[in-house]
Order: sequence, then structure tokens, then C-alpha cells
Amino acid sequence: MITILDIAAAMWWIFPAYCANAAPVIFGGGQPMDFGKKFSDGKPLLGAHKTFRGFAAGLIIGTLVGLVQTILYEQYLLEYGTQFQYSVILGFVLSLGALTGDIIESFIKRRINREPGKSLPVADQIDFILGAFLFSIPVSPPSIVWAVIVLLITIPTHLLTNLGAALLNMKNKGKDR
Ligand code: CTP
Ligand code: MG
Repeated sequence: MITILDIAAAMWWIFPAYCANAAPVIFGGGQPMDFGKKFSDGKPLLGAHKTFRGFAAGLIIGTLVGLVQTILYEQYLLEYGTQFQYSVILGFVLSLGALTGDIIESFIKRRINREPGKSLPVADQIDFILGAFLFSIPVSPPSIVWAVIVLLITIPTHLLTNLGAALLNMKNKGKDR
């Protein structure tokens, strides 16, 4: 039986990855990580939307969020059980994994001719989650139940957010991106 506590613990666990994934939207820009280079197929390696500043912002913010969660656990959440246990290194690997998963997804999108910013449903939603799962394995991997909870919550909420953003964008036609 999955309880509210399981859902809370799973979302608490993945939270730095969410922050690492969102930070570049606010702080990204500048030098692209592929330096504008093309792949052997003549298309951009990653595209202009994967920037060093976005990557650094995601890594710093995600890790700091993990630090705050570590402190909150030790100060307040210990009594609710070890499922909320946290460490700075977990925040760091989840953030690094999230950003790496997103980069790999951009690489794949460029190969199949999706321009930067064009959506690829489901892949856009799970890229950072799968990266975070993978990178967390040496530190503190999710249980199967947590992994399923995170995926089941992330895919629809992310799709709805994008739909909302797309509707807002329609009102700002011409102001591309
Ligand atoms: N971003 C960034 N650096 C990164 C990752 C993201 O600057 N390493 C910024 C970009 O401005 C990007 C925004 O965060 O537009 C949202 O990221 P994402 O949705 O992953 O990028 P897309 O615009 O969809 O680009 P792509 O098609 O390459 O996935
Ligand atoms: Mg992406």
C-alpha cells in the first residue's frame, strides 16, 4: 500500500532535481555548451538552449536545496523517520544527473530534427528524472516504489505546466521564446 508518507518522501527525495531543472529557465543564457558546433549529421550538437550558465545555476541551486533539506532533516524531520534522510552529496548527484539527462535529451532531439525549444512530449518530462535516478545510484538510489511515484507525478504535472506556458505564449505571439 502506498501512503501519503511514501509520496511525500519520494517527492522530498527528488526535489533538488526539480530545482536543478528549473534554475536554467531563470538563470540560463550566454555561451552554449556545444560552442555552436555541429554534429557529423550537420545539425547542432546540443543547440543554443544548453548553456554553461544554465548548467552552473542548476548545479549550484540544486546542491544548495539539498543542503537545506539536510539541515531540515536533522533539525525537524528526524522524528518522522529515516525516509526523509538527506545529504548534500545526494543533492549534488541528483542535480548533476538532472542536468546531464536534459543535455542527453537535447542531443537526441537535435538528431531527430527537433529545434531547440520544440517539445518532445514525455522525453522532455522524464529526461531530468531518469538522469537523476541514474546518478543517485552510488549515493542513495530510489526504491522501485519511489521511482514509480516520482514518474507518475512528474509526467502529468510537467505536461500541464508546458500546456499552460504554451497557452500564455499564444497570447504573446511574435515574442518567440
Ligand atoms: N537552459 C540553459 N542551460 C541548460 C539547460 C537549460 O540555459 N544547461 C535554459 C534554456 O534557456 C532553455 C531553458 O533553460 O530554453 C529550458 O530548458 P529545456 O526545456 O531543457 O530546453 P529547451 O528550450 O526545450 O531546449 P531543447 O530543445 O534543447 O531541449
Ligand atoms: Mg529538455
